[in-house]
Amino acid sequence: MKRQLRLGVLASGRGSNLQAIIEAGKAGTVDALVVIVVSDVANARALELARRYGIEAVFVDPRLHATNEEFDAAVIDLLRKHEVELVCLAGYMRLLSSSFIEAYAHRIMNIHPALLPAFPGLHAQRKTVQYGSKFSGCTVHFVDEGIDTGPIIIQAVVPVLDDDTEETLSARILVSEHQIYPQAIQLFAEGRLEIRGRRVCCHEAYASQGG
Ligand code: GRF
Repeated sequence: MKRQLRLGVLASGRGSNLQAIIEAGKAGTVDALVVIVVSDVANARALELARRYGIEAVFVDPRLHATNEEFDAAVIDLLRKHEVELVCLAGYMRLLSSSFIEAYAHRIMNIHPALLPAFPGLHAQRKTVQYGSKFSGCTVHFVDEGIDTGPIIIQAVVPVLDDDTEETLSARILVSEHQIYPQAIQLFAEGRLEIRGRRVCCHEAYASQGG
């Protein structure tokens, strides 16, 4: 059996990307295992979902931590205890402190529902429809200290239709999110991603022996 990369997922809400990652691991399309899910929201569906899969799911209460650094220190502690190798943000609504980013340098990914650098931050799909863009999509990127500014790993393009609303566009983008997030994790698991400044280069897969 192949070695499985140990993932820690941070999520604040619904958890559909979390589910896509878990399912890809179970199906064997991704050599990765979600070993812990952490949320800053007590009743996040992502926590409930993780528990249903038998995955450790922990609520870290922001009210019990005076600063963002202290909150992040508690999260880092959990991730370390679970020997997490890659941190995946999946609808996580908090900004990571610089100490978090240093602790997991080049080992934190995020997914954003737009073609970055267009429409970073909140309500990307709403802004896309309002702006009148003809194409949008989603982006998996490494996390740096900015808001959705880190080096881009994979993007998928999705058309914006004339009668789209925020909801219909979000639903179409989400289908692609569930495809490219596991793909990005698999590239990382295979050791194929190299960050060169702002660019992420993807190396060829090694040919399997006898294949
Ligand atoms: C997704 O649209 C993702 O791109 C954004 O937050 C949303 C999370 O959805 N960062 P879910 O919780 O994974 O269903």
